[in-house]
Order: sequence, then C-alpha cells, then structure tokens
Amino acid sequence: MSGVTVRVPAKVNLQLSVGSRRDDGYHDLVNVFQAVSIFDEVTARPAVGIGVSLLDGPDGVPTGEDNLALRAARLLAEEAGVKPCAELVINKAIPVAGGMAGGSADAAGALLACNELWDGGLQPDDLGRLAARLGSDVPFALLGGTAVGLGRGERLTPVLSQGRFHWVFALAQGGLSTPRVYGEYDRLRARRGKEPALLTVSDELIAALRNGDAHALGPALSNDLQPAALSLRASLRRTLAAGTEHGALGSIVCGSGPTCAFLARSGRHAIDLAVRLSGSGVCRSVARAYGPVPGARVMRP
Ligand code: C5P
Repeated sequence: MSGVTVRVPAKVNLQLSVGSRRDDGYHDLVNVFQAVSIFDEVTARPAVGIGVSLLDGPDGVPTGEDNLALRAARLLAEEAGVKPCAELVINKAIPVAGGMAGGSADAAGALLACNELWDGGLQPDDLGRLAARLGSDVPFALLGGTAVGLGRGERLTPVLSQGRFHWVFALAQGGLSTPRVYGEYDRLRARRGKEPALLTVSDELIAALRNGDAHALGPALSNDLQPAALSLRASLRRTLAAGTEHGALGSIVCGSGPTCAFLARSGRHAIDLAVRLSGSGVCRSVARAYGPVPGARVMRP
C-alpha cells in the first residue's frame, strides 16, 4: 500500500459558552461546532520509523514529538498493538493557531489514516475515545457536521442542520495560543467578579440551524472567549467591524481566535464580502467556505 490520505475539515464555533475553570485546568463548555469546507490532508505512508512533515511547511507547526498528529499516530499504534511505523505528511489549508482547530484536525486525520494503513481495526467509538485523550476538539474533527460539545467540548451530540451556510474567514497575521486566551478569559472574569452564567444551548441557535435560516443564525452566534481574544489582539475589533459594515449577518471571533468568521447571506454575498474584506486591509488574507461538511474521511482514489 502506497499510503492513505484523509481529508479533515476546520471548524467554526457557533456558540462557545465557557463555565468555571475545573480542577484539571479545563473549563466546562457548551460548544456548538460546525465543520466548514477548509480541509487539511493527512497522508500516512509506510515507513521504517515514525515521523511527520509538512508540505510547503507553514510556520508555527512543530514537527517533533509535540506534533499532535504524531502523538495521535503513536497513541493509535499503542491501542491497536502495532509498531508505530509511518511517515505522516500534512498538507495544511487550515490556519495555524487560528482558532479553527487545525492541529486537532491533523490529529483526527492521523488517527483515521494510521488505523487504515496499519489495519488497526479500531471502530469509530474507539477512535472517538482516543481523540478525546488527544484534545478537546479532536472528536469533533472526526465527527464533523454540526454538533453540541459538552464537558470540555469532547462529549458530542449531532445537531440537525438544514441547507448550507456560507462563511468568510479573515485570517490574521500570527496565531493566538488557546491556553493564553483561556487564561485571559479567567483574568477578565475575576476582574468583573462575576460567576459564569448557567451553561445552556441557545434555543435561537438550534432553531436557526434546524430551519436553515442564516438571518436568524447571525444574531444567535456567540463566543465567550471573544472579549479575551480582543483584549490580547485589539486590532480584531476593526476586523469584526469591517465584516458587519459589509453586511455580514454575524461577525465573530473563531474559537480562541485570531481568525474572525463572518456569516454571509448567500454564496454570492460571501464572494462580495470576501473581496471587500480583502480590500479593506483589516486582515492578512481571506478564505471562503460553507458548512456543514462531514468530518474526517479517507480519500479513495
Ligand atoms: O484540549 P486542548 O489540548 O485542545 O486544550 C488546549 C488548552 O485550552 C488547554 O490546555 C486549556 O488551557 C484550554 N482549554 C480549557 N477548557 C477547555 C478546552 C481547552 O481551558 N474546555
């Protein structure tokens, strides 16, 4: 076998409600994810040892032992009882440290690709369990579609979503560290001296998804990490304002940022919005995508 390639989507958070910091350092969440059509590809090829490399080598991705895809492959080998022998090659389209779960996507891709390459025989539930050990967003990268994540985001329930939503993403120069954004969230909350509200899934959001209603979805988008991301990267205020000015139905920081997501009225409006944002000088580059899309899938020739 010459290799197995898996395609894995990025995510946008439609609702990210953050609760208290737990004893294990994580925060309880209500996290409504949607998988969008920006994909990384992870190829696992037979090799004597194990290693990871990146096509075109974008900055900021470790290729040593702390690479999450490599850790995923090692974990899978251990569970499947096989020798971890594979060369992983990652073709990245998802922004690095951008709040779109690119590292988690690569880990999910490595799990699926290595399970196939090594004939590991692990079932989707087993892979989901391993995914949760690797990171809070990894299980969703396997599942895709639209889903609510509880716990630290790893306990998933699919959500009914009709039709296709059109998104524009404003990519920023440089990333933001997720732990740092959560840390800033804790700091801001302590300063306000307010306990987090009870975590519940937004009824408006769920209804908008069920009805495929982008006009209702826009105002229902929310992200509790947004003030923390803005506090660390004040320039994102201008980026968000530019999207709203150009008619986005919703403008929001993606997860822990710094990517900003804009919900467009239609595919046509997304093209227009992308052109305008790109010309307004408020971001490094723009990307268009639609959602929901399926999670990690093996690409058959
Ligand atoms: O799970 P993952 O390794 O992706 O999380 C990265 C970091 O983000 C954690 O170390 C933690 O600081 C923060 N985090 C959190 N609560 C969550 C998810 C992530 O505090 N539910």
